[in-house]
Amino acid sequence: MKEYAKLIIGGKELKLPVITGTEGEKGIDIRSLRQETGYITYDPGFGNTGSCKSKITFMDGEKGILRHRGIPIEQLAEKSSFVETSFLLMNGHLPTQKELTRTSIMLNDQSMVHEDMQFFFQNFPRLSHPMGILSAMVNALRSFYPELIETERDFEKVFIRLLSKIRTMAAMSYKISKGHKVIYPRTDYTYCANFLNMMFDSPVNPYQLDRDIVKALNTFWILHADHEQNCSTSAVKTVGSSRANVYASISAGIAALWGPLHGGANQAVIEMLTAIHKKGGSIEDVVEKAKNRRSSFRLMGFGHRVYKTYDPRAKIMKKVCDKILPKLKIDDPLLDIAKQLEEVALSDQFFINKNLYPNVDFYSGILLRAMGIPTKMFPVMFAIGRLPGWLAQWKENMDDRAQKITRPRQIYMGENETTYIPIAKRESDSADESDY
Ligand code: CMC
Repeated sequence: MKEYAKLIIGGKELKLPVITGTEGEKGIDIRSLRQETGYITYDPGFGNTGSCKSKITFMDGEKGILRHRGIPIEQLAEKSSFVETSFLLMNGHLPTQKELTRTSIMLNDQSMVHEDMQFFFQNFPRLSHPMGILSAMVNALRSFYPELIETERDFEKVFIRLLSKIRTMAAMSYKISKGHKVIYPRTDYTYCANFLNMMFDSPVNPYQLDRDIVKALNTFWILHADHEQNCSTSAVKTVGSSRANVYASISAGIAALWGPLHGGANQAVIEMLTAIHKKGGSIEDVVEKAKNRRSSFRLMGFGHRVYKTYDPRAKIMKKVCDKILPKLKIDDPLLDIAKQLEEVALSDQFFINKNLYPNVDFYSGILLRAMGIPTKMFPVMFAIGRLPGWLAQWKENMDDRAQKITRPRQIYMGENETTYIPIAKRESDSADESDY
């Protein structure tokens, strides 16, 4: 039987249909609200607003559940590869061996970027953040590859090209930001191995691939592959909703991800842990500062809009750190500081009452450091990982007939109608005009 929510407002009763998801979550369809009543909803940050129906990712923030196309993140992290998980997100099912091989071949075919692009971006100021370079490069792809316009209708090609080239461009952005020689992709390497080689190989010091690091990178990227309607994904979809091209949309996603409350948090966590380590201050003081409402400081890597319990990705990330650091014979003091910080925060009433737990970014920087990834590349690592999710969500949005251009409304709180006053008649300030 169809369920309805009843709303009584302005002396009028409105029956609003209830939508039930496959996992039982409920939403109220308010599309007729303004037309029927003249009212709109007020929901800054959209914490209570469902922007779409989606089949890609399921999250239960209270129970700490994350599944892609129905498969728990724990299983994917343990058994899958990043390329396979990307295929799953995009196509809705795990690939057969034939499909996976075909995907790998296509990724290899698309791994180079236009040579002119490299020279164009060589001129970026040396101290530019690689995230800014990456966002600009992805946007510029459309200009360097005009034929990509045609292939937007063949979304598999767009998906493969972007997934392959973002890895090349990310490593390139790092080399350019350092003023070093760009290293090209190799067709005899897998996706993750290729990235590591492009990052760390140099004409004077050949890079030795390590299986454990390659496996850890696969896990890192799987853990970031999608997270339903987060800030950057919503940015990608918002830009796409105006029918802007997919490269411009992904570029906007990278820009949104850069912020320290989102993908930039992994860099901010390491900066915070490093500051604690260097200053040798007490963990308790840091936690007190994060609780102080007069300070803008927050415990980075803690809290989440959806998770009100431990982020399942953070649990896996912590386990991977515990496994890989001893294997690589790395004794990182930041890991101990992070664990102490977690312990103190999780037993503090402020964090308990507000359900603030470690999120994916809390331990991810420690893993990236162990792989040798420089801190300013951390948000870029997140961006590569999130790309398959952005693309799958972009495509789903484009195919959804119920979707329209994103255009929220507002409650206006400004001046009522007033009259234009010519400048000569406006109240003058105290400065002498001759000063100007
Ligand atoms: N440290 C201290 N207090 C916090 C924190 C924190 N990390 N996070 C939230 N709070 C407090 C906040 O001050 C607020 O208190 P009050 O109710 O007294 O005003 C309350 O908890 C709710 O916070 P909010 O900002 O309203 O929650 P939100 O859902 O809008 O924000 C968040 C979520 C992730 C932006 C926030 O928790 C935060 O800023 N965390 C630190 C940055 C971070 O780690 N970001 C990575 C997020 S996970 C990866 C990703 O998706 O990008």
